[in-house]
Amino acid sequence: MTVSVLPTVQLGTDGPFVGVQGLGCMGMSDFYGPTDRPEALATLDAALEAGVTLFDTADAYGFGRNEELIGPFVRANRDRVVLATKFALERTEDDPGRRSIRNDPAYIRAAVDASLRRLGVDEIDLYYMHRRDPAVPLADSVGTMAELVRAGKVRRLGLSEVTGAELREAYAIHPIAALQSEWSVFARDVERTAVPAAAELGVAFVPYSPLGRGFLTGAFQAAEQLAADDVRRTQPRFTGANAAVNAELLAPLREIATARGVTLAQVALAWVHQRAEVHGLTVVPIPGTRKRSRLAENTAAAALRLTAEELARLEPVAGEVAGDRYPDMRLTQVGRE
Ligand SMILES: NC(=O)c1ccc[n+]([C@@H]2O[C@H](COP(=O)([O-])OP(=O)(O)OC[C@H]3O[C@@H](n4cnc5c(N)ncnc54)[C@H](OP(=O)(O)O)[C@@H]3O)[C@@H](O)[C@H]2O)c1
Repeated sequence: MTVSVLPTVQLGTDGPFVGVQGLGCMGMSDFYGPTDRPEALATLDAALEAGVTLFDTADAYGFGRNEELIGPFVRANRDRVVLATKFALERTEDDPGRRSIRNDPAYIRAAVDASLRRLGVDEIDLYYMHRRDPAVPLADSVGTMAELVRAGKVRRLGLSEVTGAELREAYAIHPIAALQSEWSVFARDVERTAVPAAAELGVAFVPYSPLGRGFLTGAFQAAEQLAADDVRRTQPRFTGANAAVNAELLAPLREIATARGVTLAQVALAWVHQRAEVHGLTVVPIPGTRKRSRLAENTAAAALRLTAEELARLEPVAGEVAGDRYPDMRLTQVGRE
């Protein structure tokens, strides 16, 4: 497949237009093993060339280092890049696996200033609440985010891993441009309440981990082969007996990929892109990669259309996946629905 510049879609009802596929920058600083920094920076430039304009980071990625990494690139291309970052996951380097969820107004006000400083910009285009703390009313958390819009620090608001009801409640406080949650051939719990609410409200959906953290590409072999600090060593879908069960589930993706002369990653991404028509909403997946070769492969998938028969073959896969998305599902919207 050849790469052409991506078509654009609008984020929310009055948000910016972005390339229909964004880039997840997380792996450039954290979670998936060592990074070749020059190659990661070249990947950012290649993404922009290919029509990717939505670049996704968070203050928690690499304890702020991911924002610092992409800052110079963002500043050099400020008029073309739509910059998304997030607050709410508090982590410390001495215990990197532990997360505290912080939604309190004082924390949010300090977090945005820290992100702006690390990124070296005056304004964040899309500011997400990374996780919801149900103990803090949305009136306080989203209300504080709305203050940041009025203060000119943030242009648009987003949420991550919230239920449909939470999205509706938040939207009534301030328009929400995008909902970012996990959505892939392997992860479809968002279709219960979050996707219908986003479609109804005109909120764009930004699927994260659209490649199942790499599992859907067929490249994953065994948790033991991953770097010692790779987070997937602790994730239920990659470990123990689950990994072998899930590897078997790749068979239909492999068959479709072979028949169409494309890669498994491209089949997985095409499936996510086609959720837009299936569910009637704007969908901008943000596959993560640190390599130009994979960037080209992934953006080309935006032009791949699976047939109704191919989609039907992928339909049962998510229901058969072994293991939860996270070791601790309380950090997601599941259980609050
Ligand atoms: N809101 C949230 O809570 C949340 C949670 C997780 C992630 N995110 C965001 O979503 C982005 C994407 O999610 P993700 O990185 O977790 O998972 P993903 O996009 O499903 O998969 C990324 C993994 O797949 C590999 N990969 C990418 N393209 C490939 C290809 N064509 N062939 C083979 N391997 C390929 C990457 O390795 P290489 O880098 O070596 O290519 C990386 O290990 C993140 O970067 C982050 O910005 C948000």
